[in-house]
Amino acid sequence: MTAAAVLFLPCAAGVEPLLADEVRRITALDERDIETLRGGVRVHGDLRVAMQLNLHSRLAQRVLLELVWGPYHDEQDLYDMARSVPWEEWITPRQTLRVDSTAQRSPLRSLNFANLRIKDAVCDVMREHAGERPSVDTRFPDLPLALHLSPEQAMLYVDLSGEALFKRGWREVQGEAPLKETLAAAMLAAAGWQGREGDAPLLDPCCGAGTIAIEAAQLACGVAPGSLRRFAFERLGPFRELLPQWRELQQAARAAVHAPKVEVFAGDVAFRMTDFATRNAERAGVAHAIQFKTADALQRPAPADAGVLMLNPPYGERLAPKGQGQAPAAARESFEGGGSSSAFFSGLASHWKRQYAGWTAWVLTPDMKLPSLMRLKESRRVPMWNGPIECRLFRFDLVAGSARREADANPPSGE
Ligand SMILES: C[S@@+](CC[C@H](N)C(=O)[O-])C[C@H]1O[C@@H](n2cnc3c(N)ncnc32)[C@H](O)[C@@H]1O
Repeated sequence: MTAAAVLFLPCAAGVEPLLADEVRRITALDERDIETLRGGVRVHGDLRVAMQLNLHSRLAQRVLLELVWGPYHDEQDLYDMARSVPWEEWITPRQTLRVDSTAQRSPLRSLNFANLRIKDAVCDVMREHAGERPSVDTRFPDLPLALHLSPEQAMLYVDLSGEALFKRGWREVQGEAPLKETLAAAMLAAAGWQGREGDAPLLDPCCGAGTIAIEAAQLACGVAPGSLRRFAFERLGPFRELLPQWRELQQAARAAVHAPKVEVFAGDVAFRMTDFATRNAERAGVAHAIQFKTADALQRPAPADAGVLMLNPPYGERLAPKGQGQAPAAARESFEGGGSSSAFFSGLASHWKRQYAGWTAWVLTPDMKLPSLMRLKESRRVPMWNGPIECRLFRFDLVAGSARREADANPPSGE
């Protein structure tokens, strides 16, 4: 048992119960130690639990450690609160810090000034203790602090992750409209797809940079999401004597990697994107676990008798095939005109009904009218946020009956 710690794991709105389940699986903590709150999950654990969560959570945005809190009226109260912390236990004067804040109906006029007062308190404590003060590094601070202000209460956290956890360490450059890894993981979690033996094969036919397929393949191979990156806690005083335990956790994670337990398929109409996704998968250590193919989603045959389609299709962007794609005219037009988007989605629905009977499709979109565009009745609609954009994850059960009716009306294209 290491020092007790209360942790807060922020996540996207709607993901809280999924994150609470994930925390249970990762930590084996008692139910009473895991509180599902709005915007995240609070965990009563210890520093070892904090390390485990950083390494294994796919859904949390960060792992924050609750340090000090209390009522406040002005910046002086924040300064006094931060002065009560023995900062010399966290960093040396040669290390750096940064303070970020979020607020909900705070009476303070300037969050920058609030950040400055917290930084002053840290520096004053350090100067009194060591005769020197640490400096600020806005890009790669050793000690990232997060201040949260509600109307009357202030809470100061140490951000133990540093860089946000969606940065898994494999993405070099952003593709076009890539999903955040945490959102791709939330889609898989909402579908109950865990990459275990017995889970159905998974296909993302509009894979872009490959985020969904890579998350899925890491699950199928038991690759820990944090195994390719560093974390802020590795440089912080209270974790110094835990570093051997940290190495053991990392080693255990590496040893737990196995051959894929489920097949994962992905593709994109643009060769450039499948090539890009393949290189991302290589860096993520799962290229061997994904079968990529440059193909038009409107024509691609099902790679298995039954499975899970999981995608965020193009929306509000050009659909033009970029390789030697043979997308029908409808798919070559722009979504912005409105009509072509409906042609694309009704084409996709017809194709699925003909060739994907027995599959379940999960489609993430900001378009609330997608089911009527596809003329499919969703069996679930899960609210999710893609950054600031409100979306729905629709589930469609592609049943044989509808396939037969559709096939009678439209004979297969002979692909
Ligand atoms: C919103 S992006 C998907 C982003 C992806 N989830 C990621 O994380 O990078 C949509 C993708 O669909 C692809 N696409 C467009 N039309 C397509 C079609 N007819 N068949 C297959 N892929 C298509 C685009 O090339 C684009 O990469």
